[in-house]
Order: sequence, then structure tokens, then C-alpha cells
Amino acid sequence: MFDCFAGWLAVLSLVAPLARVEAPATPTFNKDVAPILFKHCASCHRPGEIAPFSLLEYKDAAKRAAFLAKVTGENRMPPWSPEPGFGHFKDERRLTDSEKSTLQAWAKAGAPEGDPGQLPPKPAFESGWVLGKPDLVVELPKEFTVPASGPDVYQCFVIPLPVTRDEAVVAVDFQPGNAKVVHHAILYLDSDGQGRAKADPVTRSFPSFGGPGIRPTGNIGAWAPGIRPIQLPEGTGRYLKKGSDLVLQIHYHPSGKEEKDKSRVGIYFSKTPIRHYVGAVGIRTRQWALRIPPGEPKFTLVDQSEPLPVAAKAIGILPHMHYLGKEMKVDAKLPDGSEIPLIWIKDWDFNWQGIYGYREPVDLPKGTVIRMRAVFDNSPANPRNPSSPPIRVTWGEQTQDEMCICGVQVVTENKKDLKQVMDMLHGDLGMILGGGGMPEDDETRSVAMARNKKIERLILWEYDADKDGMISKEELDLVPKSNRERVTLMARVIGKLK
Ligand code: HEC
Repeated sequence: MFDCFAGWLAVLSLVAPLARVEAPATPTFNKDVAPILFKHCASCHRPGEIAPFSLLEYKDAAKRAAFLAKVTGENRMPPWSPEPGFGHFKDERRLTDSEKSTLQAWAKAGAPEGDPGQLPPKPAFESGWVLGKPDLVVELPKEFTVPASGPDVYQCFVIPLPVTRDEAVVAVDFQPGNAKVVHHAILYLDSDGQGRAKADPVTRSFPSFGGPGIRPTGNIGAWAPGIRPIQLPEGTGRYLKKGSDLVLQIHYHPSGKEEKDKSRVGIYFSKTPIRHYVGAVGIRTRQWALRIPPGEPKFTLVDQSEPLPVAAKAIGILPHMHYLGKEMKVDAKLPDGSEIPLIWIKDWDFNWQGIYGYREPVDLPKGTVIRMRAVFDNSPANPRNPSSPPIRVTWGEQTQDEMCICGVQVVTENKKDLKQVMDMLHGDLGMILGGGGMPEDDETRSVAMARNKKIERLILWEYDADKDGMISKEELDLVPKSNRERVTLMARVIGKLK
């Protein structure tokens, strides 16, 4: 927004009355700045953590005072993507205006240290399992080696869960084995052995950017630095089918030297009977519609869900795009015409995506439609563009491909209602993006199979150029390479391959 710190200060002086009222005349590190850094920054900016430098000591903060003022003023740090006021989330990481003014005034005054007697104690960080001893702890099958440099690594580890009866998961926690390189983790479930079939026999893992590279049967949560594990309300859980594998996708960011990781996952099961299983409404733009010309700075897609067949409460949201994603806005249009904001990310950063949990569940009456609007920037001016010069970008799983999906995690009054939600058009996607699914009986399974067929027909229809109901060799050749394997498989499974 503002080019340099000097320009920024000039603008700031226009709003000086506010700054003067709220910020101390000459803030010092010990009295005014350390409490802000300890509270909002130290969870990542301390030795051994993910951020590149510590902000616990005066000398480390003072030499970067202007930089700290700049990045907080531009809302680049702490990393938190959603726009304020558009949905209220748990664990929002945001500085108040007065905290930002304090950092600016401190930098401007030459970063004075102040009276050592006023320095608050260093923050104590919760160590071990924050929610107490988990019911089940699993870890990476083997130590994983992260190279010293090069692109980020997205690796899916297939971990069998020793669970001998169906369970309901109420919370998960994650302990990075090496906080310097572990950027975030997503915990998928796989009850049909797809991950095992794909995994390298030695590392019991496989690389996959963006999505998990298989069709998961559920998702029990995600982890990113600085986020506390969330416990579902009593009587609510995510279904975990016995015999499932955990497909743990970890995003690693190379640190400059070779690093080893052996991360661990703690899982908590419900001790009481479950009344509400968690599902999710998936919204996905048509894959065929996502064709972004090179150079296009504002490629916009809109889509929406079918009307909700039953009333539901939204408990979280998971938007997903890749590097060209710039903006995503999701809201709910109620049958009475009113609109509820669900999330708005104006400056999408693939590196800081996550599952956002609502502070209070959001009521979505029967008939509500969830609407999504996404903007992509495929211009050379986009610093996150993985291709230089820009190339034509289509739907797919690789770094240089794109996606445009969102999952709204919901709970319903009862299991019957949840089945109806999961039977909506993109029920499979809902499962991937935050539904633990639900206990499967024969009826559920046949509903799920019919639903998958419906989606597969829809996707195949998009690639069926001459609309003869079959995918020919020539049509397959037109499918973007990154998606060809999947489309071929789908066509073969439902007997549509010519
Ligand atoms: C959730 C973790 C997290 C929190 C909280 C956090 N940071 Fe960071 N910070 C990072 C990481 C990781 C980087 C490295 C760049 C990146 O990956 O975005 C970084 C980079 C920075 C940079 C360098 C930016 C650049 O362009 O090179 C500054 C300055 C900074 N942080 C300041 C702060 C301040 C000030 C706070 C608190 C108000 C803060 N950070 C809170 C994780 C965090």
C-alpha cells in the first residue's frame, strides 16, 4: 500500500491526534513495547520457532524497530488474513490501532530501552499437550529429511491408526518435530487405503502440493504455528471409522540447512455419546471455468452452493486457492434475503491458509445459499506468481495449477439432517474440507456412491467437448496434464472412457 517507511510516517502524522492520545509520549521497550511483542509475536518469533528471528530481547527488537512498525502498520504481521468485521473468529491475531501506534512512536523515538524494572517477565509457552494427555498419539513413520533449500515441500505421511472401533474425534493437537521448518499440517482420513497404495514404501509418504493427492474420507483438523487446538462442544464430534489411516499433509519451508522432522499428532476421542457429527458444505467452481489467461490481473469466478436442504450451524470455514489466488469472499444469503458475512480474505497468502473457527456458531436456516467470489492475479506484477513469464493456468494439483474451493464446516440437529447436507452436490468436497463424515451404514454408503457418480458425471461432462456422453482419446488430450490422470480414472470407473 505504502512504498516506504518515510511515506508511511508522513501519512501517519495526519492522524497524529489519535496516535498522541493512545500511544505513550515516548514509549520504551521495557514498559510499552515488550508487552506487545511478547503477546502477539513471540509465539513464532523466539529461538527454535518458525519465524526467522527472535523478538524476545531488546537488542533483537531495537535493531529492527522501523521494520516492525512498518510490517505491523501494513497488517503483514502478525500473519492473519481475514478482514476484520467480516466473520468473527477464534484466536484472531490482530494488533489494536493503539498497539500499532506504540510501535511507530517507539521506532520514531529511536527505540529507547527504558527502565529495566518495568520489563515484564518473558512469556511462558504452553509445552507438551495443551489439552492434557491425548487418547491416541501417533508420529511420522520415519524421520523425514527436509532439504536445505529449494521450493517448499508438501509431503503426505500415511499413518495407520490403531483404532479398533468407530470413534468420534473432539480435538486434535500437533507437535512439530522441528518448528524451524514445519509451516503447517492438515489431518486427512483415508479408510480405503488410497494413501497406502500411493506411498513410497521406504518413507511411507508421498509428495502432494495443495490437495492431499487422494480422495480422503474425512478430515479431523489442521495446525499452524501460534494456533491453540480447538475442542468441539460437548456432544459434537468428527467421525473416525475404525481401521482408517491418517494422511498427514505437512508443508515444510526449507531453513537454509538440512533439517530432520518427526512430528507427532495427539487425538482426543469423545467420552460421551455424540449427538452432532461435523460435516461440511463444499463449494467448488466448475473446473472447466478455471482457465486463467497469462497476464490477466483480475480473473474473477463466482459460484454458490445449492440451497441448504436443512437448517445448520456453521462452526468453521476453509477457503482454498493456490499462489495466483488474490481475494476470496464468502457469504450466506438467507431465504429472507438477508446476508451473513462468512469470510473475506483480500490479500490471499497461500502460506498462511488455515481452517478458521467461528467464535460463535453461525445459524444458517434451511434454504440458505452460500456464495463464493474469487479473484486471481496471473499478471507478471504478482510477486507470488510461480511462473515467469506467466502461463495459461488451469485446474490441478501442482504448484503452477490453481483451485477455487471452499468448505463451510457445519453441525446439524441430527444425523438424518447431516446426511442431507453431505448429499448436496459437493458433499465429497465437504468431507475433504472439514467433515469427519458420519457413521456409515449401508444406506449412507449407497447415498455417497450415488453422489460421487453425480459429481464425476458433472466433471466429465465439462471435459466432454462433443457432448456424446463419452470421453475420447482426443478429449483426454485436451484435459490439462495435471488433471488427466484423475479424469481418466473417473471415466474408466463409470464406464465412460471411449
Ligand atoms: C504465527 C507466527 C508469527 C507471528 C505471530 C508473527 N510472525 Fe512475524 N514472521 C513469521 C514468519 C514465519 C516470518 C517469515 C516470513 C513468512 O513466512 O511470512 C515472519 C517475518 C516477520 C518479519 C520480516 C518480514 C519480511 O518481509 O521479511 C517481521 C518484521 C516480522 N515477522 C514481525 C513480526 C511482528 C512485529 C509480530 C508481532 C506483532 C510478528 N511478526 C508475529 C511468523 C510470525
